[in-house]
Amino acid sequence: MSDNRVAVLVPGKIHPRVLETLNGRFDIVALDRSESPRVDAETAARVRGVAVSGGFDAVWMDAFPNIEVIANFGVGYDGIDVRHAASKGIVVTNTPDVLNDEVADTAIALLLNTLRQFPQAETWLREGRWVKEGPFPLSPFSLKGRRVGIYGLGRIGLEIARRLEPFKVKIGYHTRSPRDSLPYDYYPTLKEMAQSVDTLISIVPKTPETHKVINAEILSALGPQGVFINVGRGWSVDDDALIAALRNGTLGAAGLDVFYDEPYVPAAYLSLPNISLLPHVASASVPTRNAMADLVADNIIAWFGKGAALTPVPE
Ligand code: DGY
Repeated sequence: MSDNRVAVLVPGKIHPRVLETLNGRFDIVALDRSESPRVDAETAARVRGVAVSGGFDAVWMDAFPNIEVIANFGVGYDGIDVRHAASKGIVVTNTPDVLNDEVADTAIALLLNTLRQFPQAETWLREGRWVKEGPFPLSPFSLKGRRVGIYGLGRIGLEIARRLEPFKVKIGYHTRSPRDSLPYDYYPTLKEMAQSVDTLISIVPKTPETHKVINAEILSALGPQGVFINVGRGWSVDDDALIAALRNGTLGAAGLDVFYDEPYVPAAYLSLPNISLLPHVASASVPTRNAMADLVADNIIAWFGKGAALTPVPE
């Protein structure tokens, strides 16, 4: 350990490529995040950067008085107490753009899986039921002719919309304000959009405004042919309302990549036939995770090399 190198704290697990890049340039202080921050005062004072995947709260921030930058692995930075960071003058960075394609691809794959029940069809084949019982039952839904509403038209939402165009579906979106020159219908409220579409794809982040906004009213507005897809955050969904809607047929089907309390998934989802479930894998390919890891490391290198982070989040 050389004392003149900047110390970077890595609380808990992170993609190995982050460490490979940072090792040698910085002194890495690796700690177990499941415990409270336990470190001697001298080491705590030396930490000026943080590379983290998952979460970093006020208690952790306060335990290291000289943090300048926190580089989050992920585009969603809801695990970081950004307000507390801002109050201490700490810059927080995330990993935007490099995962847009992967997450948008996942939204489309999940939509098709949910509508056409491809995972269930594969299980049918693997279990030998095709031979014993005949063809897999017809899927009740199709993408053809659907009216798709995208909730959250940021960079990923826009990629989802672009991918939907060749499917010749009707595309609409809801965000706080309309985006210029887009060939999609804008809905000023989520409710109005839900009333006008039969397919809702949510890609909103976890914020105070998005808490459980996908509720019974929104789901029943989609109708019995309605389909709900979530690649944003489980935080935005009222799970009890979704389970009830899927059970009583108020909603046709759902596809979820994200959950309220990951990695825990409500048991009721596991027994429902009209739901497609993924364990938060939207960005989980080797190339995309490598790109995210590089951006985490590059943000720290840029901050300590040039005094400016590459992708700071808004305060
Ligand atoms: C993120 O980076 O926040 C995504 O949820 C990963 O899939």
